[in-house]
Amino acid sequence: VEPDASPLARYRAIRSTTEWLIDPLSAEDCAIQSMPDMSPAKWHLGHTTWFFETMILESTEAGFRPFDASFRVLFNSYYNTVGEQHPRPRRGMLSRPGLDRVRQYRSDVDRRMERPLRDGTLPEKALSALEVGLNHEQQHQELLLMDVKHLFSCNPLRPTYRPLEEPPATDPGDLTWSDFPGGSVAIGHEGNGFAFDNERPRHEILVQPFSLANRPVTCGEYLEFMADGGYRRPELWLSDGWEVADRHGWEAPLYWERDEDGTWSLLTLHGPRPVRGEEPVVHVSYYEADAFARWAGARLPQEAEWETAATSPPGEGHFLEGGSLHPAPVAPADDGSPVQLFGDVWEWTGSAYGPYPGYRPPEGALGEYNGKFMCNQMVMRGGAVVTPASHIRRTYRNFFYPHMRWQFGGIRLAR
Ligand SMILES: [Fe+2]
Repeated sequence: VEPDASPLARYRAIRSTTEWLIDPLSAEDCAIQSMPDMSPAKWHLGHTTWFFETMILESTEAGFRPFDASFRVLFNSYYNTVGEQHPRPRRGMLSRPGLDRVRQYRSDVDRRMERPLRDGTLPEKALSALEVGLNHEQQHQELLLMDVKHLFSCNPLRPTYRPLEEPPATDPGDLTWSDFPGGSVAIGHEGNGFAFDNERPRHEILVQPFSLANRPVTCGEYLEFMADGGYRRPELWLSDGWEVADRHGWEAPLYWERDEDGTWSLLTLHGPRPVRGEEPVVHVSYYEADAFARWAGARLPQEAEWETAATSPPGEGHFLEGGSLHPAPVAPADDGSPVQLFGDVWEWTGSAYGPYPGYRPPEGALGEYNGKFMCNQMVMRGGAVVTPASHIRRTYRNFFYPHMRWQFGGIRLAR
């Protein structure tokens, strides 16, 4: 998606990417929910459509009538100002509406959205809601892949989402450190380009001198942590993390399985295969990332440190458009500077997700988008191999609860 393309072209490109992501799935794949945090693909299709219908058509279309009045509740995720919601853990109970009906909903809303986009008649406020809607749909593209991966991991047939020719092996080299002087730095988004409300306002913050690892932690390094009793040594763990790891019997990242000969395999969207030492470790919780960092004599970066270091343009890592759907190593930079800050794995930071100084959520329903989640979650930075490249920014703040592992989360060390 070219950032300077017309709103209509971008609307079409992003909507059709979602359809492309659904292509390999059966109607049954699209209906099932494998855990309370994930949503069936059919629900993603409906909900992203609901967003445009509710946030734009409802307030701009003459004589607006909803496609189906019941969808207002069924496909509302968490917007209390819009009204009631079908409970999230029960999204997998929605055998009706069928996939065909949800697809009709998509085409109907597309037809009604494209008309004012073509004529250029959307008012200013609706155009800014459109930007949120397009970025929202891109977020759900990533969620959809996370959710399909989890769903398939629960199926003993180990389905393949899309077959892939594996890229040639790249040596990421030894982990090295880059020093940064710190000082008073400015972080956050400014300017006219799109950013979510949680990236604003840009503000100054005092950062101590720090060092940042040149690349994400690899599976080989994580295997050393495991072999050194990493999951069995309480001194490495936060209290909450120790409790969660014990309760769930964690002994490896999510989607890792020990083979009969004691070696490890992992699940990709292309099916299972052996763990490769050189690839970035992925599907670890904040608690595991934090324990690993402590074991390694380091820590996780603060988000201001990460943003200060991330001066290279997004694009050197792997994103959704590349189609590899699993993180891969990249070659180190000649000067040893950090690589792969963008793409491949979301990097856990040691920063709690909170409002920037002077933050104010937008008025109305869109005020519920980010602001009300600013409690008990941790910030992740940089985007992953399932993130659309046109979606990510240096100032982008993703956030997850510290126990969550089904997002493509990895580790970059700081000290
Ligand atoms: Fe959503």
